[in-house]
Amino acid sequence: MPTVLALETSCDESAAAVLRQEGDQLTVLSHGIASQVEEHAQWGGVVPEIASRRHVEALPNLVEHALKDAGLVAADLDAIAATVAPGLVGALMVGSITARTLAALHQKPFLAVHHLEAHLASVFLSDHPPHAPYLVLLVSGGHTELIRVDEVGEMERLGRSHDDAAGEAFDKVARLMGLDYPGGPAIQAIAVEGDAKRFRLPKGRVSKPGGGFYPYDFSFSGLKTAVLRHVEALRREPEELPLADLAASFEQIVADVLVERSLRCCSELGLEHLVMVGGVAANHRLRSQMRAAGKTKGVSVHIAPLAYCTDNAAMVAVAALRRLSSGVEPSSLELGVAARWPLEQALSLYGPSPPF
Ligand code: KG4
Ligand code: ZN
Repeated sequence: MPTVLALETSCDESAAAVLRQEGDQLTVLSHGIASQVEEHAQWGGVVPEIASRRHVEALPNLVEHALKDAGLVAADLDAIAATVAPGLVGALMVGSITARTLAALHQKPFLAVHHLEAHLASVFLSDHPPHAPYLVLLVSGGHTELIRVDEVGEMERLGRSHDDAAGEAFDKVARLMGLDYPGGPAIQAIAVEGDAKRFRLPKGRVSKPGGGFYPYDFSFSGLKTAVLRHVEALRREPEELPLADLAASFEQIVADVLVERSLRCCSELGLEHLVMVGGVAANHRLRSQMRAAGKTKGVSVHIAPLAYCTDNAAMVAVAALRRLSSGVEPSSLELGVAARWPLEQALSLYGPSPPF
């Protein structure tokens, strides 16, 4: 019955959670998030220096409450985990140093977690976890990727964005429409009332050097520019900007592209299970469209629970518990943090020789 305390501080959410695993059963004993988005919203995006300082202020309280709400003390834990890469270096440092200090103090193993592995693990908190092999659509603020996961957990990246990530596109489009950061929830909120068919927007494909297109890759920068052109043209008109219609049309085209390419990849590779995780997977239109299309195509769709799509510590704990049960050696207390680190090399975060 391993029990893990996990911390997440890779961007603008400070979070702590305690999870227990009994066989295949995962129980969230506690989880808390201190969001900084309101403070960053004034600047139109995340300010790394502010993020680090807010993590320093928020973590002690979050850790205390995570243990108290779980009804445990540090001595009851089997390991202490934290996200160490990728992300904002100063922000990652706060969570990692806190976890390593607690691990040293209470003589517990330290488990370093890759942020994208944590997003992938978030689907195991759903009532309907997938069976390998499956395809993962990872859609966050920094990544848009299609990853095949096989029976032994080996991963192969089959598609990616060549420019903006889907979440980044939501954030940038929201900003040019004069909406708040983060853009995803802001666009979703006003899109509810909008006509998604009002504006024709491009699907953004990536050309192959010899002709044709990469079938599973994405490009969102042309879409962002197309929205900008509409906004500029509409601002010349006397009427108010039809923001709801523009937001709905944008949200619709992003959902169309993500759904079409993911299901095409499943069908061409003969994969029967599709997993969707990451902040953008919280989008209602995308969730319902992916489920409906999966049904039509005979693909079983598994989406992370809404509460665990955007950054949180419960998903970090799931990744740590899965590593623990796979028998990895604990991470070195000498391990640092990294702004970038390939998901395929997440295993190198464990054992006595730290890669950074
Ligand atoms: O996974 P996440 O919390 O952080 C990263 O690891 O990047 O994702 C944050 C991204 C932001 O770009 C945000 O605008 C987007 O997820 N997002 C959404 C929604 N909620 C968050 N995008 C679309 N619809 C939403 N409801
Ligand atoms: Zn994330």
